[in-house]
Amino acid sequence: MRTLITGGAGFVGSHLADKLIAEGNHVTVIDDLSTGRYENVAHLEGNDNFRLIIDTVLNAKLMEELVRESDRVFHMASAVGVRLIMEQPVKTIETIFRGTDITLGFCSRYRKRVLIPSTSEVYGKGTAVPFREDDDIQKGSTSKHRWAYACAKELDEFLALAFWKESRLPVVVVRLFNTVGPRQTGQYGMVVPRFVKAALQNEPIPVYGDGEQSRCFGHVADVVEGLVKLIETKECYGRVINIGNPEEISIKGLAEKAIEMTGSSSEIEYIPYEEVYGEGFEDMRRRVPCIDRANKLIGFQPTRTLENIINDVAEQFQEELKADSQNA
Ligand SMILES: NC(=O)c1ccc[n+]([C@@H]2O[C@H](COP(=O)([O-])OP(=O)(O)OC[C@H]3O[C@@H](n4cnc5c(N)ncnc54)[C@H](O)[C@@H]3O)[C@@H](O)[C@H]2O)c1
Repeated sequence: MRTLITGGAGFVGSHLADKLIAEGNHVTVIDDLSTGRYENVAHLEGNDNFRLIIDTVLNAKLMEELVRESDRVFHMASAVGVRLIMEQPVKTIETIFRGTDITLGFCSRYRKRVLIPSTSEVYGKGTAVPFREDDDIQKGSTSKHRWAYACAKELDEFLALAFWKESRLPVVVVRLFNTVGPRQTGQYGMVVPRFVKAALQNEPIPVYGDGEQSRCFGHVADVVEGLVKLIETKECYGRVINIGNPEEISIKGLAEKAIEMTGSSSEIEYIPYEEVYGEGFEDMRRRVPCIDRANKLIGFQPTRTLENIINDVAEQFQEELKADSQNA
């Protein structure tokens, strides 16, 4: 099957490419390498079933060609990460909304199955955990850029559901909760790679706020298995579906676990949010997915634990640190 993965040189997209190629599919990746890395897909180059195109999804002419020749599209390209969103709010909104608008338009014209990843961020200031797909949503003011990511993704959701309603486009919207594993970089504010890397280097682990805020972390291998089933299951079309691991841990607890599991001598350093993101930053205390819908529709049940995640991420960084020291 011919599959187009936008943002396929990114963290989730590249794991998806690996899985699909291993299953005998042909994969085309389009990525502008803004947050993705060539190294994530370098091992696939030379494989007859793989093609990499370095370009933007905002190139509508190219996207039309790529969508038309594909059987299905995973639209993973997006501006990602809280830090990037705070620093580049215009690019965030444009990449997310225009990229999805272009992708959905051509998928509708050529009748292609398409998966649109959204985010647990759309649950905004919700406090009634676990979050269910049909929950009401409350966000902060438009003067607080943090909410631009969530609102742009929400608009993507509306557009996807509108295409389903008007023309029965086979589209599934997936709200991803924190997804982690090897290849994710800490550069854009992602917490697990930052903590594990700091622990391995015995450097202070920076916890923002009081560390009592909690998150749930899903292993990328569980997540991509879910994504492939979702796009192939007719009952999922026109629906919004949570994908994540409901196991919850405080950010302070995560730092402690990273220290313990890597045998590190790192100390935890508490940093006020304002120092990192500027005045007026708002964060959510808890974010837990209800995965009943995904479980009912595709039998989704994560099998990898947070310990598996930390081990896999630590293994990747150890290999990188070893390679760096050999090259030094
Ligand atoms: N990882 C998570 O925890 C998480 C959580 C919620 C939602 N998501 C969503 O999952 C998707 C993948 O996220 P990820 O974690 O792999 O992030 P990522 O940054 O690793 O992947 C995004 C990819 O899109 C590419 N990209 C950005 N703008 C582009 C453009 N204009 N044209 C072409 N490529 C472009 C980037 O270079 C990158 O490779 C995104 O839609 C993201 O919003 C991820």
